Amino acid sequence: MDQGMRIAVVGAPGRMGRALVRAVHEREGLSLAAAVARPGSPAVGTDAGTLAGGSPLGVSVTDSLAAVLDAVDLVVDFSTAEATLAHLDLCVRAGRPAVLGATGFTASERARIREAARHVPLVHAPNYGVGVNLALGLVAAAARVLGDDADVEILEAHHRHKVDAPSGTALRLGEVVAEALGRNLSEVAVYGRQGPEGPRDRATIGFSTIRGGDIVGEHTVLFAAEGERLEITHRASSRDTFARGAVRAAAWLAGRPPGLHGMEEVLGLGDG
Ligand SMILES: NC(=O)c1ccc[n+]([C@@H]2O[C@H](COP(=O)([O-])OP(=O)(O)OC[C@H]3O[C@@H](n4cnc5c(N)ncnc54)[C@H](OP(=O)(O)O)[C@@H]3O)[C@@H](O)[C@H]2O)c1
Repeated sequence: MDQGMRIAVVGAPGRMGRALVRAVHEREGLSLAAAVARPGSPAVGTDAGTLAGGSPLGVSVTDSLAAVLDAVDLVVDFSTAEATLAHLDLCVRAGRPAVLGATGFTASERARIREAARHVPLVHAPNYGVGVNLALGLVAAAARVLGDDADVEILEAHHRHKVDAPSGTALRLGEVVAEALGRNLSEVAVYGRQGPEGPRDRATIGFSTIRGGDIVGEHTVLFAAEGERLEITHRASSRDTFARGAVRAAAWLAGRPPGLHGMEEVLGLGDG
């Protein structure tokens, strides 16, 4: 029987990993070939389908991507930034394309991803939701029209387990605004404020972070001008939206030459 494209989900026991196992299983043309957990994880040896809250899929969770790569066509990795880089080295060696979901990479780690993309096709996006990727385009258009007349602030909220701040999506929204306004985000970003720091510098882009409970992910870009305010908000209510987007990216990536792609390309939205 044709198994279609054989997918390894890395970080399978995680919040996103479980949603990905379900999304891969549900998508025609893809099959779950491997589910990978951290060495020492209690999930190792369990059935990936049961772990994801469904029926058994006959795929036993392993702790070694290297051991299963031969039987896999494409890797979808939503583990951690650090683990992703190690897995990426394996993908390059084995010539396997990958869809990368982790956030919290440093600038030099992002450079390693760009380097890997010279050898294998990669999609790397801080947010695989369709709505957020549409919001990136709306935010770019708003920034271009409002120009320097509006102060830009980016607010984001996530669940209590999230380890990086601000979110990768908030940073991407900031990059899009900075690009549209001809600013360099690393020079104008302000991450939280405290104490008497004087009036707001007009060129800055501010970030505010909320962490709590089970919030899946919320982002607002606020353009505050004299006399009016524009807010562009996206709220994710289920991780399934990210998982379905990542699986769509996997199907899109198959058969492409080496290179680094964003979700806007997968969705055919053009550049920001
Ligand atoms: N791009 C997007 O659309 C999007 C959407 C949501 C989340 N994210 C990002 O995706 C990442 C995962 O998020 P999450 O909420 O699912 O986190 P999570 O629940 O902590 O899941 C991460 C999983 O990866 C596992 N892991 C750690 N090291 C590993 C290794 N060496 N090999 C295999 N698995 C390993 C963890 O295992 P242990 O728990 O046993 O350590 C855990 O099961 C985060 O960086 C998050 O910001 C991206």
